[in-house]
Amino acid sequence: MTKKHRYAICGLSLRGIYQYALPLLGRNRAGGPNFDDRAELVAILDLDRGRVAEFCRQTGRTIPWYAPGAFRKMVRETRPDTLIVTGPDQTHCRHIVAGLDAGCDVITEKPMVIDCRQVRQVQAAEARNGRRLRVAHNYRYAPLHRRLKRLIQSGRLGRVVSVEFTYNLDTWHGSSYFYRWNSERAMSGGLSISKGCHHFDLVNWWLGDVPEEVFAFGGLNYFGRDGALRPRDARGRPFPPAEEKRRCPVFRKHYAGKFDPASNVIGTGWDELFSLPYDRQYPPGERRYLYDDGIAIEDSYSVAVRYRSGATMSYSCNFCTPWEGYILGLNGTKGRLEVVHRSDPDPTGKTNPASDGGLITFYPLFGGKQLIEIPAVAGGHGGADFAIQRDLFVRESAESRQLQLLADSEAGAYAVATGEAVWRSATSRRPVNIARLLGR
Ligand SMILES: NC(=O)c1ccc[n+]([C@@H]2O[C@H](COP(=O)([O-])OP(=O)(O)OC[C@H]3O[C@@H](n4cnc5c(N)ncnc54)[C@H](O)[C@@H]3O)[C@@H](O)[C@H]2O)c1
Repeated sequence: MTKKHRYAICGLSLRGIYQYALPLLGRNRAGGPNFDDRAELVAILDLDRGRVAEFCRQTGRTIPWYAPGAFRKMVRETRPDTLIVTGPDQTHCRHIVAGLDAGCDVITEKPMVIDCRQVRQVQAAEARNGRRLRVAHNYRYAPLHRRLKRLIQSGRLGRVVSVEFTYNLDTWHGSSYFYRWNSERAMSGGLSISKGCHHFDLVNWWLGDVPEEVFAFGGLNYFGRDGALRPRDARGRPFPPAEEKRRCPVFRKHYAGKFDPASNVIGTGWDELFSLPYDRQYPPGERRYLYDDGIAIEDSYSVAVRYRSGATMSYSCNFCTPWEGYILGLNGTKGRLEVVHRSDPDPTGKTNPASDGGLITFYPLFGGKQLIEIPAVAGGHGGADFAIQRDLFVRESAESRQLQLLADSEAGAYAVATGEAVWRSATSRRPVNIARLLGR
């Protein structure tokens, strides 16, 4: 029997559980691949011992837990071949570097890290160790996105001249970032990195190009202390915490009847199998909500990007809109591609269950339009999550190699750099040069 590949997970996050741990344990979501015949999960490093213990209890497995300070001990005792980095974004750099220095290969969730200083640390560790770092930019894997890549590669569009990309998150998904760790710049780098990295990576990959300069505006409009959605009394003062939630339109629409407004506990419901505690990350006595004083990131952006080829992009992202998805236009020297894609993840308001497929409209410059339908497939993020699991845990498929689907640290770096340039430009009101930010 061949030896099983040994994986350790750093951060037993929801993403870590559903995308990595369960498929490794042979318990992937319905329709998804399992890898327990070739792989084993040998260790979990997490801040929260109780959370890991509860996961082990509910899955009936004995997987050793290690505290964040016990990284070396974990490697010494459990000898992982590959490290899977799935903690909050700010923890990625430390775990990637420690893993590479320990002689492991590393798979990290997006964003690779939270700023360009960390990019340099990660790439230096990769270079000095000769190990491989893969960045799980799963959004590339959605069938619609692969099809767009093929269309661009085919030359039918000609040279891409400009990109119009509007990404909107609905009131449920977008607001959820503002009561989780993502709302702290020190933890996530802000949403232009934590979320925007998906979009910036997609465009870099579609175009086979890299960004050179970014100019952006951004603001905190809906959430935070002065957020437009914050309920206020007749004299304009905020209500006490429980009353604030009772009157908050987000809470009323998405959480009323499911969570007690007087409690600090609130959640998206994504942990559908286990409902594990988060007691260390979110101490039960600590208030966190959409209008907290400390929130100092943006919830809306308008951005201009210029790429090395001369192509440009106008991008906007808004974290509080009535429906979720994107509107995309790609103008080429031979035509235009358009996509309007709804994903509507809110389980309470799902209006379009088959929305994860899609429709691409191609308009040749001189000729009739062509419709290209992309059927919906099973699996999270429009089927992307199952496809990337196979590439990460078995081998890259022929299509993946051809399309260069699996992102490396250089792709991870440019996605982070674009996101950092966005918030830095929005703050300074000046354009930001990407190479300078990356220290190149
Ligand atoms: N690719 C995607 O589509 C996708 C989707 C969701 C999340 N993500 C990424 O996955 C990662 C996890 O996000 P999530 O929302 O699932 O996380 P989460 O909030 O569900 O979990 C975070 C986990 O990390 C632990 N933790 C906190 N601080 C730690 C530390 N210092 N050291 C070790 N463990 C620590 C917490 O106890 C918790 O178990 C993030 O990088 C996020 O950006 C990617």
